[in-house]
Amino acid sequence: MKVKTLAIIVIIIAAGLAAGLIWYFYFGPGAKVVVVMGTSADFPPFEYVAENGSIIGFDIDIAKYIANKYGWTLKIKDIAFEGLIPALQAREIDMIVAAMTITSEREEVVDFSIPYYNASQGILIRAGEPDITKIEDLYGKKIGVQAGTTGENWAQENLADKCEIISYPRVYDALMALKAGYIDALILDEPVANYYSKTDAEIVKASYVIETGERYGIAVRQGETDFLGKINAALREMFETGYYDQLIAKWFG
Ligand code: ARG
Repeated sequence: MKVKTLAIIVIIIAAGLAAGLIWYFYFGPGAKVVVVMGTSADFPPFEYVAENGSIIGFDIDIAKYIANKYGWTLKIKDIAFEGLIPALQAREIDMIVAAMTITSEREEVVDFSIPYYNASQGILIRAGEPDITKIEDLYGKKIGVQAGTTGENWAQENLADKCEIISYPRVYDALMALKAGYIDALILDEPVANYYSKTDAEIVKASYVIETGERYGIAVRQGETDFLGKINAALREMFETGYYDQLIAKWFG
């Protein structure tokens, strides 16, 4: 009788412990959270598809650092830039890390992290074509932009009555159009223009840079303050430890 009671007590305690462990690792503070990052992988060196098919870049390394710090499993979804905010709101992704500029329009629908990179707009043209040194040189030309970007906005505001503006969901389609002569110039973030002018012999960056003074941030759904606080803490840690500078050297050096 005594042995039986003891056995029952032991079983109850063991079952309680097991349930506790299961709770801890699946639902509690020990849970491995899956965080889905959305990006538009057409923007080297921030995010692009490597030859082996994996998505790599500066933004990916930043997201990996953040995920590692908190033990999150990082998943990456490649979505055309203009679809990123809708995907965030539809909960298909948890954060946008896509060289996304912090703007007041976007801040009405998402929350941004602290800024992590500064950029302006650059212009790509075909190699051998006359340089573009001022805005007037763009007048009368066919201008390509990526749909939903600040570059598209700038073109609409400054060139709409002087140029034909064509928006492409993906940067690589705009590049093809440029090389094929279907457009004359492509406006996109300057660091990405630099990358393409260095890696593709058919195109060069024009000397005219549109000083827009943009700052990139990571976007999350509004009100997810805990999540955003963690992202910001990880970014600050990257700045302070020098890891950020290492990434700059790796991707822009
Ligand atoms: N910085 C610009 C913007 O926020 C362009 C970003 C495009 N990003 C991309 N991954 N294609 O509108």
